[in-house]
Amino acid sequence: MKKTAFLFLLLLLSTACSQGPDRAVVFAVGGAPAELDFWENLADEFTRTSGIPVRILRQPSDTDQQRQSLVIALKARMKDPDVFLMDIAWIGLFSAADWLMPLEADMDTVPFFAQVIDTVDRFNGRLIALPVYMDAGVLYYRKDLVKAPPDTWQTLIASARKVQEAQRKTQPDFYGFVWTGAQYEGLITVFMEFAGTSGGFVEENEGIRLNCPANIRALRMMRELIQPLAVSPANTFTQMKEEEVRMAFQQGHILYERNWPYAWALHEADDSPVRGKTGVAQVPAPETGRSVSTLGGFHVGVSRYTNVKAEAMAFVQFITSYDNQKRMVMELGWNPGRQDLYDDPSILAKAPHFNALKSVFQHARPRPLKPYYSQISAVAQTHINRVLAGHAAPEEALAKADLEIQGILSRYQVDP
Ligand code: GLC
Repeated sequence: MKKTAFLFLLLLLSTACSQGPDRAVVFAVGGAPAELDFWENLADEFTRTSGIPVRILRQPSDTDQQRQSLVIALKARMKDPDVFLMDIAWIGLFSAADWLMPLEADMDTVPFFAQVIDTVDRFNGRLIALPVYMDAGVLYYRKDLVKAPPDTWQTLIASARKVQEAQRKTQPDFYGFVWTGAQYEGLITVFMEFAGTSGGFVEENEGIRLNCPANIRALRMMRELIQPLAVSPANTFTQMKEEEVRMAFQQGHILYERNWPYAWALHEADDSPVRGKTGVAQVPAPETGRSVSTLGGFHVGVSRYTNVKAEAMAFVQFITSYDNQKRMVMELGWNPGRQDLYDDPSILAKAPHFNALKSVFQHARPRPLKPYYSQISAVAQTHINRVLAGHAAPEEALAKADLEIQGILSRYQVDP
C-alpha cells in the first residue's frame, strides 16, 4: 500500500517536472465586461494552438486607473504582468522609464499605420510596442431626429437646444448632447476637440501651455453646455466617462454623443434601442480653427521584467495578426492598428463607416508624447473640471494650470 502511494507521488512529481517552470503569460487588460470576455476567448485559443497558458489580469476600464496599477507593478520590478495594453497617452512614460522590452526584430510593422508606429511605438530606434486598436473622437447622432450632423459646435448647440425642447414633450429626460466631462483623461481628449486646431496643449520652445484664446473659448462653451444652456446633463462633470455617455445615448435619451469608435457596434447591437438610428460623423469645428479629433487607442507592450520573453513575444504576434485583428473588428467593432484591414470587403460590408475612419485616424491629433504627460494631464483635468463645476473662470483656471505645468517642466529640466 505504502509502495503504491510512493510510486504515485513519484509519477506526479515527474509529470510536474517535465512541464518545466511556469510558462504562463500574464496579460493585463482593462475594459467593459464584453471586451474582457473577448480577450479571454482569444487567450484560450492561443493556448490551444501554442500550448502556452495565458492568465488574464482584469483591469478597470478607466485609463488612469489602469496606468496606476501597471506603474505599481513595474516600479516594483514585478515579473507579472508580462504583456499589457497601454494607452497611447502613457507610452512615452513607459518607454522613458525603460519598462518595455524591445519587440523582436522580425515583427512585421509594414501592415500598421506607419506614422503611428514611427511617432509612438519606437523609442531610441527600437520597436517597443504595436498598436492593437486605434481611437479617434467621433460624433454619434440620431439620424431619425436630425437630417445631417452639425459642422460646427455652434450649430450643434442650436440643434441640440431645438430638438431637446421638442423631445421633452414626450421624453422629459431627453438631453441634446453627452460627452466625457468627469475629472479623468477622457476630459482632456474632449477639451482638445472643443478647442480645435488653435487650442489644446500649445507646444512651443520645448514648453507646453494651455492659456490661449481658443482654450478660453472652449472652456466657456463647455461650461455653458451644462449651465445655463443645460443641453448636457448636470452630472457631466461628476460622472460622465465613456460608458456612462454610451449608455445614455443607447437608451434613446440623447441626440448627440461624443465618444470613441467602440460605441458603434454596441449601438448597432440587436437589443439596442438606437439600432439603425445612429449616424457617425466627424467632430464639429470651433468658430475659429478647424476640427480636431483626438488620437487615442491602446498598444501592446512586453514588460522589461518578464521571465517568459519568448512566450510573451509569441502572444503579441498572435493578437496583432491579421486574423485576430479582424476578429476584434467583427466582434467588438474596434478599429485595428493594422491598416491592411480597412479595405477588407467583409469588414466594409459589416461596418461601412470604416473606410472614412481611416482618414480620421491619419489626421487625428495626439496628446503630447512626453514622459511627464500624465502629470500635466492631471493638472489640466483638475482645473478644467473646476470650470465645469462653476468654481473657476476659464482664464483664471488656465493661468493656474500653466503655473503648475511650468513647475512640472522645470522638474524635468525643460525650458518652460
Ligand atoms: C480611450 C482612448 C484613450 C484615451 C481614453 C480617455 O480609451 O483610446 O487613448 O486616453 O479613451 O478616456
